Amino acid sequence: MQSKLGLADRVNLISMSATMKVSAEAARLKREGVNVVGFGAGEPDFPTPDNISKAGIKAIEDNFTKYTQAGGIPELKEAICARHAGDYGTSYTPAECMVNVGGKHTIFNFTQVLLNPGDECIIPVPYWVTYKDVVNYSGAKIVWVETDEAKGFTLTADMVEPAITGKTKLIIINSPSNPSGAVLEDDEFRKIQKLTAERGVWLMTDECYDKFVYSAEPFSIAGEPGAKENTVVVGSLSKTYSMTGWRIGFGFGPKEVIGAAQKLQSHSTSNPTSIAQKAAVEAVTGPQDAVGEMLEEYRKRRAYVIERVNGIKGLKMTEPGGAFYAYPNISAVFGKNGINCSLDFAEQLLKDGHVAAVPGEAFGTTEHIRISYAASMDDLREGFDRIQKFVEGLLA
Ligand SMILES: Cc1ncc(COP(=O)(O)O)c(C=O)c1O
Repeated sequence: MQSKLGLADRVNLISMSATMKVSAEAARLKREGVNVVGFGAGEPDFPTPDNISKAGIKAIEDNFTKYTQAGGIPELKEAICARHAGDYGTSYTPAECMVNVGGKHTIFNFTQVLLNPGDECIIPVPYWVTYKDVVNYSGAKIVWVETDEAKGFTLTADMVEPAITGKTKLIIINSPSNPSGAVLEDDEFRKIQKLTAERGVWLMTDECYDKFVYSAEPFSIAGEPGAKENTVVVGSLSKTYSMTGWRIGFGFGPKEVIGAAQKLQSHSTSNPTSIAQKAAVEAVTGPQDAVGEMLEEYRKRRAYVIERVNGIKGLKMTEPGGAFYAYPNISAVFGKNGINCSLDFAEQLLKDGHVAAVPGEAFGTTEHIRISYAASMDDLREGFDRIQKFVEGLLA
């Protein structure tokens, strides 16, 4: 329907991010003086490591404050390619690499240069919110592939195969997953890549949480022989180096795809901030100890969250293999106090329990809430005490 203001129709293809909605409501309550424990935002609570921040300060002092190449400075592209090669045995060159304004921007660019209206794009459920909206924005049709909670929400090639049609152009894979924390098994990933290559389908792998896996080794499908041809990689410094506000993401892919995405970028954002790019060079070339320290801290918090969820009657959860999210099933309280879906649950939990969590509807399921454990142990203790009281109160 034509909007009164005459807004373009394609704006109606996207909705406001549900994760942002919860943060906004939690922020409103906080402004009113309510003590809210926030498990909503998927944002590390650690400061950006000092060496990285100092590189940003130095960039300002050196007056490195002007336009750069739209797709990123060569020094950073080389550094990103070298880090990925060292970590995963990939062989990307700067011509196959772009730097973007966060991984979200990388995803936007890739989806807009790969998808035509009428194409089909496969997205496993649960999915990260943004995929849905940016694919819708391209005009392509989403084909959902439901994963099985009982199997830890992991994806298999057998699930993907029946969803592929003559119109399938792209599949989006995110491992470790936001919101479920599911980690795709390396062999299954290889099978999916092989299947998509055989069927002429692009594979977009979102490696935003690649460094945060708890019982497997970090893995990139792009390091497998032959995978580069039909794969585009999304990377981000946001979570890995606790740099969410600096807005640096990157993409790898065949140089024609990267060229097209950079062309799009040159007419929208132009370059990512010059200062942030210099900080990013330090992040990927400098000491990596902070990443390991964050992983160990998340590991402790994850163990605590699993113990707490399992200790609350009415909640159950598959163990997340990576990222920093728990995705417990809350359907045991359905029918109580007017709660019939995750959205009802999250709203009441925020209003009555003063804990912010994201309802599963944001990720395509109705029986879960997403809890980000990128929060301090004190907040986790307090938040879970409140969740326990809230849930047990409903079931009493
Ligand atoms: C799965 C996934 N991909 C990509 C991103 C994008 O992060 P950023 O744009 O901060 O790099 C996020 C952020 O939450 C995410 O969860």
